[in-house]
Amino acid sequence: MLAEEQKGFNRPPQSYWIASTIQNVYPVLTEDLKVEVAIIGGGISGISCAYLLNTEGVKTAVIEADHILTGTTGHTTAKITSQHGLIYKKIKKQMSEEFARQYAEANESAIRLIKQIAKDKQIECDLSSQSAYIYTLQDKYVDKINEETKVASSLGIKAAFLEEIPLPFPIKAAVRFDHQAQFHPRKFLLPLANEYMNSGGKIFEQSRVVDIEKEGPYVIITNSGNKVTAEKLIIASHYPLYNKTGLYFTRIYAQRSYVAAVKAKENYPGGMYIAAEESGHSFRSQVSDEGELILVGGEQHKTGQGEDTRENYKALKTISEKTFTVEDIPYRWSTQDCMTLDGLPYVGHFTSETPHLYVATGYCKWGMTNSIAAAMILKDLIINGKSPWQDVYNPSRQTALSSAKNFIVENLNVTDELIAGKISRLPEQVEVKPGEGKIIKANGQRTGVYRDEQGTLHTVDTTCTHMGCELNWNSAEESWDCPCHGSRFSHVGEVIEGPALKPLNLQKDLNTIEKVIKDQF
Ligand code: FES
Repeated sequence: MLAEEQKGFNRPPQSYWIASTIQNVYPVLTEDLKVEVAIIGGGISGISCAYLLNTEGVKTAVIEADHILTGTTGHTTAKITSQHGLIYKKIKKQMSEEFARQYAEANESAIRLIKQIAKDKQIECDLSSQSAYIYTLQDKYVDKINEETKVASSLGIKAAFLEEIPLPFPIKAAVRFDHQAQFHPRKFLLPLANEYMNSGGKIFEQSRVVDIEKEGPYVIITNSGNKVTAEKLIIASHYPLYNKTGLYFTRIYAQRSYVAAVKAKENYPGGMYIAAEESGHSFRSQVSDEGELILVGGEQHKTGQGEDTRENYKALKTISEKTFTVEDIPYRWSTQDCMTLDGLPYVGHFTSETPHLYVATGYCKWGMTNSIAAAMILKDLIINGKSPWQDVYNPSRQTALSSAKNFIVENLNVTDELIAGKISRLPEQVEVKPGEGKIIKANGQRTGVYRDEQGTLHTVDTTCTHMGCELNWNSAEESWDCPCHGSRFSHVGEVIEGPALKPLNLQKDLNTIEKVIKDQF
């Protein structure tokens, strides 16, 4: 067995999807622009929605803060499936059979659309048909899996109950969905973005939206000071960056999860798997120039609330070694997902009072099919004024607005973070080694300190610029993460991920901080 260093854990985290593709480069917005529909966010939702609207002759522009397809879309496990945990029984019981049917149809249609586009456009994206499995190691999930099989089957999904799966460990039960798929998301979406551009679409990168100034038409302002005027606006920025209405910040929370890409001695048996248990461990394979990779995922936690997040990668390594003979772990990465209170996405009109403002968010980790479903729903709402799946995805649906118990639990947790962060006892004497980030009390203020590999200290005010929660250090990704709504900042305070729009304030009294730290050690 190789030493740990040789298995990739001395290499910085890097997504295989990004490492194995060449980034398209699009211009920064440097002049004012007028379009029919502006789309904020160049992830899978924004690009696929722009593509579908463009095919209908609608003039659109995608405005991306960073580079397209490098956020959650570039850090997914890329399973194309209508199997989203044990969801169908839950929707049927808590909402209605009609909602469960709409959700099944939307996601099964998304699978078919991805396959159709890849075929029609001859996109080589490692697309392969696979079965998807939810398995359990515990007796208490067996009845739930049995029920899920029956409900899914009644909705037209080809589902089967099993007591064994092809993975090399015993289980208590599993449900298998057939005719599902997996792909390389960027090999599918980068050509789709090119296709959209070549057909008259517009993509602007490194153009962060800093304000939405006016409604009807909407006027959005980017960090270059340029304006985009649009009759209709779609916010597909992952966590919605618009908080003047809709109260999304009270009904979405952010979760991080981890992936290790493993090279193993054994051949992978095929299939996409996820545990029913809280750990959410998942498995799929991926062809690569370096041979077969097995993607082992899971270890989720709320953003900004993990302890030492490097432990999550170590836990995946342990699971991988228990399951396979691991030869190397050449890639590992983490991602962030927007979670909703009733477990279903918010896609449609931003609120019932905003007929020309739309949102697509809250995919609860099932973004590959939900985003394509979202693109189809938004296209239908914009072109036809209605979609066959609009009710279950409606951001203003009853369960989205009145999940009172969960709402209180989630927000109590956020309030705790807000207060605990402010009043927690902070060490005044700490050692900060190269590569380490810590929170100290300097000059009586909560201060984030990171020492880079060259020994230089970088210090920030750890107050989140979104709504003032206190940030925590994410050791695995070397970022300052917000426990309230998931904003993330680099060690020098730049926004990595919203909803925050502004960078962190810097703590400028470096001499005092350096002296405090050095004097103690
Ligand atoms: Fe909302 Fe930080 S993301 S307060």
